[in-house]
Amino acid sequence: MSVDELQSSAFIGTANRGYGQQAQEEILRLFGSPIKFTHLVPNEIFLFQLPVSKSEVILKLTTQEPMFLRHIQPVDAEFDWDGELASLQSWAIRSVQLDAQSKVAVQVRKTEELTTGISQGEYKQALDHILTETYATVPVAKGSEFIVSLYLVPGIAYIGVSKPEHNLSDWSGGAIRYRKEEGQLSRAKFKLLEAEQVFGLDLTQYKTALDVGAAPGGWTSLLLERGIKVTAIDPAKLDKDLLKNKNLTFHQKNAADVKLQDASFELIVCDMSWSPRQMGKLIKGLLPALITGGTAIITVKLMHKKAFQTVRELVGDLSPDLTVQKAKQLFHNREELTLFFIKA
Ligand SMILES: C[S@@+](CC[C@H](N)C(=O)[O-])C[C@H]1O[C@@H](n2cnc3c(N)ncnc32)[C@H](O)[C@@H]1O
Repeated sequence: MSVDELQSSAFIGTANRGYGQQAQEEILRLFGSPIKFTHLVPNEIFLFQLPVSKSEVILKLTTQEPMFLRHIQPVDAEFDWDGELASLQSWAIRSVQLDAQSKVAVQVRKTEELTTGISQGEYKQALDHILTETYATVPVAKGSEFIVSLYLVPGIAYIGVSKPEHNLSDWSGGAIRYRKEEGQLSRAKFKLLEAEQVFGLDLTQYKTALDVGAAPGGWTSLLLERGIKVTAIDPAKLDKDLLKNKNLTFHQKNAADVKLQDASFELIVCDMSWSPRQMGKLIKGLLPALITGGTAIITVKLMHKKAFQTVRELVGDLSPDLTVQKAKQLFHNREELTLFFIKA
């Protein structure tokens, strides 16, 4: 019987560090009990086993995507492992079936407790080698047809095969890496880059944007790079080179004190590390400036242990003007989460 026909399945779920519990709560809410959770990395990475088929789990998690579950990888087989590379290779080829010429990305992760002296890269290389030899697959990093995920802990190896779009992220563990550019103004820029990708936005489609809480200017610089005319607001200073850009208008003020023309922006972005309720109030006051059908991308600071309540309250405070399209804790979010809204 193939894994897809079984009425039970197992996956490894990954959340941002410290948010594993929230991700587990979301899974429980979607499927109900009995789900067996086993911690692999406390409050971050966990194995979950449930009496639901692999394909059903994937369908539900990809169509009703949880906010805190960043990545899943199926566990099709589990192996009591002696730590030897050769035994891992021979078990791996017995556990997976792949078509010749299919493009395969091997993703390997391991816990810190695994002290075999072999690096993640070396495991990956060994797997790539044996799969290519056995099945004549084509090893790729991006643009794969299938991902072979291997997760190693002391004494046990877990393996699974999936389509990249079924893992919630095609990056290993959902850890999206961007290259830091020379002169990049802030790491915060990665958050907007990731939001663009995760929410399926094409920022070049927007002509005008308002950036609330813009300093030092990472988000503003990305919006300008996308060819958008930007109005940035922040009582703090914006990078001086950015100020030379003729597509930028800067108000060095508290956003509550700025007067904006009605329906003058297609996009509002806000990345203020502020009390969520105060930030919600401030954004609400600025909403007349957003056109109907316009987009808002907002980072919300999470009050620990009250993450769900914080999101619920913000969505409530901004409704009915803004309707939430997707809320996701991005890999580049720290104690926060990013929301994508459309103005009704
Ligand atoms: C996390 S930083 C933003 C980083 C920015 N997105 C970037 O990419 O460089 C938060 C900013 O919000 C600003 N801020 C806080 N309260 C504000 C308010 N009431 N009006 C405007 N900006 C505010 C702070 O001055 C700070 O510069």
